[in-house]
Amino acid sequence: MLLKRLRLALATGLIGLAVSIGGGVTAQAVDAPSPRVRALLERMTLDEKIGQLNQIPGGRQRALNSRLDAAALERVRRGEIGSFLHVAGAAQIRELQRIAVEESRLGIPLLFGMDVVHGYRTLFPVPLALAASWDPGLMEQTARVAAVEATAAGLNWTFSPMVDIARDPRWGRVVEGPGEDPYLGSILATAQVRGYQGTSLADPGSILATAKHFVGYGAAEGGRDYDSADISDRTLHEVYLPPFYAAASAGAGSMMTAFNDIGGVPLTAHPALVRGLLREQWGYQGLIVSDWNAIPELLNHGVAATPQEAGALALRGGVDMDMAGNLYSAHLKGAVEADPTLLPLLDQAVIAVLTAKERLGLFAAPYARADPAREAAAMLTPEHRALAREAARRSIVLLKNEGDLLPLATTARRIAIIGALAEDANSSLGSWRAQGKVEDVRPLIPALREALPQATFTYAQGYRPEAAPTIAVTAAGEGAQGVREVSDAEALAEAVATANAADLVLLVVGEHFDRSGEARSYTDIGLSAAQDALAAAVLDTGKPVVVILMNGRPLAIPELARRAPAILETWFLGVESGPAIADILTGRASPGGRLPTGFPRASGAAPLTYAHLPTGRPASEDLARDTARYRDQPITPLFAFGHGLSYGRFDYSDLRLSQTEVAPDGRVEISVTVRNTSSVAADEVVQLYVRDPVAAIARPVQELRGFRRVAFAPGEAKRIRFILTPAQVALWSEDGWRITSGEIQVMVGASSADIRARTAFTVTSDGVSAIPAAAIPTSSSEEPVS
Ligand code: BGC
Repeated sequence: MLLKRLRLALATGLIGLAVSIGGGVTAQAVDAPSPRVRALLERMTLDEKIGQLNQIPGGRQRALNSRLDAAALERVRRGEIGSFLHVAGAAQIRELQRIAVEESRLGIPLLFGMDVVHGYRTLFPVPLALAASWDPGLMEQTARVAAVEATAAGLNWTFSPMVDIARDPRWGRVVEGPGEDPYLGSILATAQVRGYQGTSLADPGSILATAKHFVGYGAAEGGRDYDSADISDRTLHEVYLPPFYAAASAGAGSMMTAFNDIGGVPLTAHPALVRGLLREQWGYQGLIVSDWNAIPELLNHGVAATPQEAGALALRGGVDMDMAGNLYSAHLKGAVEADPTLLPLLDQAVIAVLTAKERLGLFAAPYARADPAREAAAMLTPEHRALAREAARRSIVLLKNEGDLLPLATTARRIAIIGALAEDANSSLGSWRAQGKVEDVRPLIPALREALPQATFTYAQGYRPEAAPTIAVTAAGEGAQGVREVSDAEALAEAVATANAADLVLLVVGEHFDRSGEARSYTDIGLSAAQDALAAAVLDTGKPVVVILMNGRPLAIPELARRAPAILETWFLGVESGPAIADILTGRASPGGRLPTGFPRASGAAPLTYAHLPTGRPASEDLARDTARYRDQPITPLFAFGHGLSYGRFDYSDLRLSQTEVAPDGRVEISVTVRNTSSVAADEVVQLYVRDPVAAIARPVQELRGFRRVAFAPGEAKRIRFILTPAQVALWSEDGWRITSGEIQVMVGASSADIRARTAFTVTSDGVSAIPAAAIPTSSSEEPVS
């Protein structure tokens, strides 16, 4: 019904876009397989078909290839395996591929997958940090380098990008995604897919991208990883689905279903969302893989009584490939024999797998990616390092800078560096590190010495922010090099003495990298008690303190935010962490990153989003009134979505619309002049928000619908233009995306909490659109003005 309506809307010209899957490839994988795929399918036995749906680990994340024993190779020969994950190395992969191609009956090549998430050997900032760059071009480039390196090591499939929207920082996987906003998430999803897959998937430097985890994984109740999500249809369609739509539109070759259930229906067996919405409505033709062991886990969910039932449910749901569950391989045959209506679904799944292999060029050139010579030359090249530094620099967010404490003066002085994270190269790599190596990281302290040769540096580690919730402050055996065994009191005293003997303190605190990531949910997202004590003692010295945060999630740090004059958010920045931080501290570059997710004032204030509904009793500062707020916290976030300071100063003026009345299929140009009134070169991220103030359904108080990171010379002014369409403010309904007539407010500014100019236009009549509003990109441009 809905599909019919949407087709109608398309025919009447109200819809601007249809999903074109395949990045230029028009093959209709599942609906209309290629002649090669059809011919192969006809020759395949039931066992061989099921074999193609089977992905097994060839190793573990930290011990690649460790499970490639004789038995696994025999399974390849028998055609029982369609794909390996957690394998790497051109020589090893070449040999595995050779066995599949030359020694199995049908010679079908294998897919080799890995979580290449923020780089393969050249590790870039973690995804949440990269999102803070608000720079899709940069994310495309980093994904491209990841693809070039990973494919040189034989891989043809990455389980990235993670496009899960997350509004609850207790959820540890917030580090892997784009943050809280579906518009930003959609733009960044598109950029990453383009980077991974390049202009042609068949290019040996291209890798199949996976948009994951479809869908609602970031909405886990209580922020507990793997837990249920209970999401309204509206929120699902308006917030969680748009980045997947964007990834599909960009041609993402695969999608991964999520571990969680929504309202009791696990996504591993969710016909309505996977087969219905994704495949049928959106026309998605790529490969759909389960998450790790998620098919057997349908039994734990309590929706299947036997493994056979679980297999049938997952297949009916639309899951093509079983990641690491060994369930399709052990039980699908029985399921199909018991219920032959599964056979056409099985064929569709096989077609999806074979088509992915075909699109990657594996039938034509099975060894193109496993080239030891390219592998030897491709890793961590000077160009890749340079990009890593640029990416790290652009991801840093200046949260606070009272009295312009930053940038640091280059004059000689004594600088104390306090906090073990300052020398924790391991944490700089973040979670999912593929082949990243600790020794590749250029840490902070030597980088600072190099950047500020006239200064003298002293260092005290203070307390170590280890993974455990309660800190073990005696650090022997923790694996960090050169760590002395110190007691709490000694560590604190040493830190305070070091601070006292300096002119300025760089206090490096946050989280050990292993506190964020998969299965790393915490109820308390503040600093550890030990680090709080350290920070308080250092601040008590009265010395000027610049806090350098290293962390993978928004932190609730109200005391630090209140007391420290300057705070720099540096996340986990990858191999060029130290030099990039030094670049910003010294003013070689002005910080241009902006928060892709707000920071709460307390753990108990999560989840939170700037894009909340107005409610009948909007939050008021006035505690005498009963409004939608906590009584023990201010109504604002600690740091707002989009927030980030600069060494420049920016004036916004002359906000104009091309017209004030817009037809539902029309467009409006929104332009504003931004001037850098300072004497330093700096980037500004100009942000465009909208609000529909009166609608049949309450709309968020603000929604991001455009942004542009713009470089300004000192004193320079530019006119920034955005083109917006009414489809971008459409609201989801069961009958499609509704454009409703009436006023749309427009806000332009430097963050969601720092709006500099407002205007409004009117949509003249109702309309309909087929595309999730947040997945429609706003084009933008800039031009100098005098
Ligand atoms: C994660 C996925 C990942 C997979 C393979 C799972 O536990 O949820 O994001 O791609 O493992 O490593």
